[in-house]
Amino acid sequence: MRKKITIAGAGQTGATLAHWLALRGDVDVVLFDIVDGMPQGKALDLLEAMPIIGSDAHIVGTNDWEATKDSDIVVITSGLPRKPGMSRDDLLKVNAGIVADVTRNAVAQSPNSILILLTNPLDAMCHVALQESGFPASRVFGQAGILDTARFRAFLAMELNVSVAEVNAYVLGGHGDDMVPLIGSTNVGGIPISKLIPAERLGQIVDRARKGGGEIVALLKTGSAFYAPSAAIAQMIDAVLNDRKRILPCSVYTGDNEGGYDVNNLYLGLPARLGATGVEKVVHIDLTEEENAALQKSAASVQELVTVLKDNDLLH
Ligand code: APR
Repeated sequence: MRKKITIAGAGQTGATLAHWLALRGDVDVVLFDIVDGMPQGKALDLLEAMPIIGSDAHIVGTNDWEATKDSDIVVITSGLPRKPGMSRDDLLKVNAGIVADVTRNAVAQSPNSILILLTNPLDAMCHVALQESGFPASRVFGQAGILDTARFRAFLAMELNVSVAEVNAYVLGGHGDDMVPLIGSTNVGGIPISKLIPAERLGQIVDRARKGGGEIVALLKTGSAFYAPSAAIAQMIDAVLNDRKRILPCSVYTGDNEGGYDVNNLYLGLPARLGATGVEKVVHIDLTEEENAALQKSAASVQELVTVLKDNDLLH
């Protein structure tokens, strides 16, 4: 039986994700948005591309939650971008309201689904979706580290003029400034990165990856990155649909110190084994003292956002 995937939010990332999924040809995609006509128009345009690329993907656009009924996976990209004059906390509260509403509607139609979050601030939004869905944390997780890792890998491959396939790296922690690249485990064709790139240059590359989202916002001027974030979600979906047991950095719930990173009851970017049931395991990687300090700092930033949501009765 074909799997059904709902994408809540048919904006830049949502629509581009639909495109990546349509290329697979083996899934039904529902694009949901509150804007009248927009998801229907994008879905129809994409559907009309299928005979050209030879894909039998079914794609529908809707403003009606009923059309999302019995989805296997629901991806939540719905949210507002930060507008001029809006504080970080204002955006946090607005997007928490949107994610709460979308989660309630989505799970009412698809009580057995897996929820994958993309709305920012990502880790905090995962907390909201976990609470509103009542799902086990294994079925609620977010896209974070695959994107940061991909940016880092892309820049390293460019620097060394090698295939991206040769570059193995992990970036943990939160997005952007808080990201924690694991330099010690980064290698190119098995050769440690520290043997290939001098420390100072490597620092510059890490910094570019760290500011990767901002670099794109500055170039685009309106909107933020969407190709790579949606490709990252497509990879997570593929891991679930095919029970691949891939170990990918995702925003996952640590519960009672799962994974052994000394972080409790918090969503944070950590390596997770993804399979048919969602997050099967938070995987432990030994961190250096410096990496651990950076991860704890990252956890503290997420905790701050969670506290703001609690203070505003958006989380309990
Ligand atoms: N229900 C459903 N969709 C909604 C709702 C809602 N309550 N509120 C807003 N949306 C929709 C908007 O209509 C819009 O089409 O969410 C979509 C968001 O799309 P974009 O503004 O194009 O944003 P995008 O670039 O896709 O990013 C989405 O992912 O990476 C993060 O920071 C980014 O939080 C942002 C999210």
